[in-house]
Amino acid sequence: MAQLELKHLTKTYDHMPVVNDVSLSVADGEFVVLIGPSGCGKTTILRMIAGFVTPSSGVISIGDKAVTALPPWRRNCGLVFQSYALFPHMTVAQNIAFGLEMQKVDKTSIGKRVEDALRLVRLGGFEDRYPRQMSGGQQQRVALARALAIQPDILLLDEPLSNLDAKLRVEVRLEIRELQRKLGITTVLVTHDQEEALTMADRLVVISEGCVRQIGTKRDIYERPADRYVAAFIGRSFFIDGQITSPGNFRSNDGLHFLVEDSGFIGLGSLTLRPEQLTLGAGSEALDNRFLGRVEYTSFLGPAIDVHLLIGESTRVVVQFANRDGGHEPNKDDQLWIGWAKTTGLVYPLANER
Ligand SMILES: Nc1ncnc2c1ncn2[C@@H]1O[C@H](COP(=O)(O)OP(=O)(O)OP(=O)(O)O)[C@@H](O)[C@H]1O
Ligand SMILES: [Mg+2]
Repeated sequence: MAQLELKHLTKTYDHMPVVNDVSLSVADGEFVVLIGPSGCGKTTILRMIAGFVTPSSGVISIGDKAVTALPPWRRNCGLVFQSYALFPHMTVAQNIAFGLEMQKVDKTSIGKRVEDALRLVRLGGFEDRYPRQMSGGQQQRVALARALAIQPDILLLDEPLSNLDAKLRVEVRLEIRELQRKLGITTVLVTHDQEEALTMADRLVVISEGCVRQIGTKRDIYERPADRYVAAFIGRSFFIDGQITSPGNFRSNDGLHFLVEDSGFIGLGSLTLRPEQLTLGAGSEALDNRFLGRVEYTSFLGPAIDVHLLIGESTRVVVQFANRDGGHEPNKDDQLWIGWAKTTGLVYPLANER
């Protein structure tokens, strides 16, 4: 077990930085999730930590040792690749033993270590199967067992659940998290799935275009996104463009007035709101911002219902409410009151957008 530290890590291909000045500290036993869209550099960061990609600049430390110049086998990182990457011609036991042989673990202990690792992922007895004789979820667990068998200081998981169906993904997700807690192993998981990130992480690192946008606890990032990009990427937000006219006052482009918290600037901005934080109908009376809206359409999501409304001339808002007590959906063109507290919205300067 160990602490992991990345300092000003950059990777350039053909003069293009695909990872750009990334710094991050992961505490001993912490579970950190890197989240960002496809191509933002997540795998490249993980491969630099594991030692398969050489950084163009920056320092990687594990424990109190700089490992930037060490080959992969001297870093003691367990890695689960984006695809399962089990060797198809080897049995489960041989797959798991492979890493141990590379580490020169003596032959007599290998059998026991393989058995222990399989038991950890609840696949005891599968030693002699070939990957093709197992389901996707089982193969994924073997890949995890293989990463754990070497007793790594750091566990690196690159979208380890991407090949699983939705239901299995939820199950294996919980298993991995439980196992990680039990073993207290420092873990970095990469995903582009925000639900996965929110269920698994102690802390999140939001990445776009090779840069860290925000690092924080799930609550920090959900409730205080650093910018409009993060607000849109984590959770669901909608935006009303306009300007801050004076501290605490926002005017939309179609002339509506909103009370907001002081955002520390005057000028063009984007008011960001989360649909579940708005109140529809009864209960909206006492709130700072209150408008009569016209229903454009509704979406039934199962546990919740989204209502899309127009307020003023062209301002669109979305209100989400829980599907309880029959969850009555309003009709198109119904007029409904909507309200929200000024503390709910955040305003980002529009010039900040990338
Ligand atoms: N060996 C390489 N040579 C040149 N460009 C590369 C190389 N490896 C990765 N890239 C580029 O670096 C960028 C980041 O790739 P990376 O695989 O880290 O993204 P990712 O965030 O893991 O994406 P995904 O979610 O699709 O897996 C991409 O634009 C990719 O094309
Ligand atoms: Mg990737």
